[in-house]
Amino acid sequence: MLNKKIAMIGMGKMGGMLASSLLKKGVVNSDQLCGTTRQEASAIKSQNEYGIRVMTDNVKAAEESDVIILAVKPQSMALVLEYLKPVIRKDHLVISLAAATETKFIEDHLPEGIPVIRSMPNLPCLIGQGMTVLCPGKHVEKEHIDLATSIFTAVGRVDVIDRDDLMDAVTAVSGSGPAYGYIIIESLAEGGVKVGLPRSLATTLAAQTILGAAAMVLETGQHPAQLKDMVTTPAGTTVDGIMALEEGGVRVALIKAVESATLKGKELSGESQSK
Ligand SMILES: NC(=O)c1ccc[n+]([C@@H]2O[C@H](COP(=O)([O-])OP(=O)(O)OC[C@H]3O[C@@H](n4cnc5c(N)ncnc54)[C@H](OP(=O)(O)O)[C@@H]3O)[C@@H](O)[C@H]2O)c1
Repeated sequence: MLNKKIAMIGMGKMGGMLASSLLKKGVVNSDQLCGTTRQEASAIKSQNEYGIRVMTDNVKAAEESDVIILAVKPQSMALVLEYLKPVIRKDHLVISLAAATETKFIEDHLPEGIPVIRSMPNLPCLIGQGMTVLCPGKHVEKEHIDLATSIFTAVGRVDVIDRDDLMDAVTAVSGSGPAYGYIIIESLAEGGVKVGLPRSLATTLAAQTILGAAAMVLETGQHPAQLKDMVTTPAGTTVDGIMALEEGGVRVALIKAVESATLKGKELSGESQSK
């Protein structure tokens, strides 16, 4: 269990998910975690749902905590930081979950010398199978990275990247990626239905197959192309399936999806940071 108090600023989908996982995994107990929302009604609802103290006073939550997790929408960030600024101390660790919000933007809205880590978790964090990438700001030490890693390990795999300019690319691959994965699973299942499988079986087959394929990439460390070759028997069935995928341009479509989402992230960063 961590020996720290955490304030979750924003108890929406991501803040609530992270709070509930931290409690479930025993990373902190309910006295070490508090949350905030904008509206009183949401605070009462979250308090009942998660069994922690949830308030609408960000300043009080921050003052009482060691780690401040910013889980509000990017467009609310500047206002939230403005109110927090007077109470943020150098012994605080500030972690942002916000997409399209540069670490420097957060640092510039806080007193000089505050350790800030930008993070990008994704939806499967909800079930402990997430992917989170951490990007340290200029005042972050190893102990801060270790602390943030302990927090996000509760909800899945964690990696660290030292380049804030690559966080929009990270967002495009692992932040948005679950949506692409769901489309692939949905389409594979639709294919199964087309050739006569019951829909529920087709969906289970598709989902478990993508899960297993992904786990093999991570566990064996082999290149996906090598693993694909293991399934592709000469003159067998898979190679015909692959030909249809190539004709449909699936590779280019996925590459373009990541490229477009990255560009959109940069565009949104530019917009929110000019405010
Ligand atoms: N959803 C994803 O898959 C995902 C993945 C990675 C990162 N993120 C990032 O996570 C952040 C949160 O996203 P979300 O999807 O969880 O949003 P969300 O469900 O809309 O939740 C936002 C939360 O922030 C609260 N809030 C708004 N203004 C506030 C203020 N001034 N002070 C305190 N709390 C305030 C809201 O309270 P009320 O309910 O009272 O308005 C709500 O609890 C975003 O920056 C997003 O980029 C999301």
